[in-house]
Amino acid sequence: PPELFAPQRKNAVGIDLSSPKERAALEQALTRAISGERRFVAKPGIGSAANRHAVRNPADRREVIGEVAFADAEAAERALAAAHAAFAHWGRVRAEERAAILERAADLLEAERGVLLALCVKEAGKTIVDSVADWREAIDFLRYYAAEARRLFAAPMPLPGPTGEDNRLRLEPRGVFVAISPWNFPIAIFTGQIAAALAAGNTVIAKPAEATALIAEEIISLLHKAGVPEDALIHVPGEGHVVGPVLVGDPRTAGVVFTGSTETAWAIQRTMAAKDHPIRPLIAETGGLNAMIVDNTALPEQVVTDAIESAFRSAGQRCSALRVLFLQEEIAPKVIDMLTGAMAELQVGDPARLDTDVGPVIEEAAKEELERHVAAISAQARLLYRCPLDERHAHGSFVAPTLVEIDRIGRLEKESFGPILHVVRYPGSRLDQVVESINATGFGLTFGIHSRIDETIDHVVSRVRAGNIYVNRNIIGAVVGSQPFGGEGLSGTGFKAGGPYYLLRFAVERTVTVNT
Ligand code: SER
Repeated sequence: PPELFAPQRKNAVGIDLSSPKERAALEQALTRAISGERRFVAKPGIGSAANRHAVRNPADRREVIGEVAFADAEAAERALAAAHAAFAHWGRVRAEERAAILERAADLLEAERGVLLALCVKEAGKTIVDSVADWREAIDFLRYYAAEARRLFAAPMPLPGPTGEDNRLRLEPRGVFVAISPWNFPIAIFTGQIAAALAAGNTVIAKPAEATALIAEEIISLLHKAGVPEDALIHVPGEGHVVGPVLVGDPRTAGVVFTGSTETAWAIQRTMAAKDHPIRPLIAETGGLNAMIVDNTALPEQVVTDAIESAFRSAGQRCSALRVLFLQEEIAPKVIDMLTGAMAELQVGDPARLDTDVGPVIEEAAKEELERHVAAISAQARLLYRCPLDERHAHGSFVAPTLVEIDRIGRLEKESFGPILHVVRYPGSRLDQVVESINATGFGLTFGIHSRIDETIDHVVSRVRAGNIYVNRNIIGAVVGSQPFGGEGLSGTGFKAGGPYYLLRFAVERTVTVNT
């Protein structure tokens, strides 16, 4: 029965941005949160800091949001020792109590929307709409994994056996989990990783992305306020190359949950595989070269809305974002025409404004890399459209949403993590080759198809190797509990976040057989 897999639970309602009353309340909360009286600071939960630096708004680098002190290797080591010791008590807390703490944390995150959304906008450069979605998803993860902790961990599973034998399968926590999270979902993915590890009874070292340590500090303090012991969840803001090897390379680390690039996932895997170390799980969610196939029967208006959302929401900085749009030859001119028209209407600018569609990318180095990609690909392809930028964008890391036509997906070696959409035209007779070329990238995260022919949809869906497949809609914004999220191949290990198997990777199984 479905309730065995999805306990009764409701996702957060979020904020109705179409309601003037809710908008006014949100604007007030945002202004209050960053009124200047409060200085935002992030620092290692334990131990000393290696260096300090000012955090700047990616939309306007002149604006300082707060200060971060990065952990040095010694602070990372001390945090690990403390979390390892804390496992002795947190690992024995009953699942019901862990779940209640996570639910309290969800309520606190809901109540503290002002400061969290303000930091998401100012530190990560996300638009208000994207920040609200990020915040909602974090709340959903907390409540979902709380419910999952009750479902999976409350009691051992009785198993059959002959008379006189009692068999039970128990799920037990593993120990210290190192949670390494990205800046593109600084609330949801950061919170989701931690919530899952804690729900399963592990202690956690939280290593957020360098760019979003301030918001991480806020979330951690809310989790502590909700009842997570301070030594069961320790913040280690720091540079990956300084603290990563210390945390991941230590045999006391019982597992790593990571979201970021495929290259970093490989590096973590290699470090974890050190000789004589216990064999431990890595749960990795990495990138994708996500594609959408559009055949001649698709509805162009729907395609354009969904492609724009998928490629340019969050300035294209989602691992789920659309990178390559395959258009069947006959429909291509019309869709391209409509796409460029829709792109011309995009508001690129200050993410703190409600009417902004596309904010900045996270940092100058990312902007430069994206510009290099546009220059390189344009030399062998056809640049179809770039949104205009002007002096209002001069002080931020803005990249103009770009549409470029290429001849095949094989031209792209990896994803460009920004607002750049590639288009490929294909003749209907080569649909299977298109699918093969998508699979041949080795990535397998999200995929979309737009068609009104059921046979085509079934044919393609059954051949594409991607973790999240969407039919006749956009390909971003997976919903906790409804669309478990994560890829395969170069895109990650599974199990999927927000799905019924995720917590299992954070646990060990023990079979206990008693001769009665
Ligand atoms: N889960 C996000 C989405 O579906 C991506 O990380 O868009």
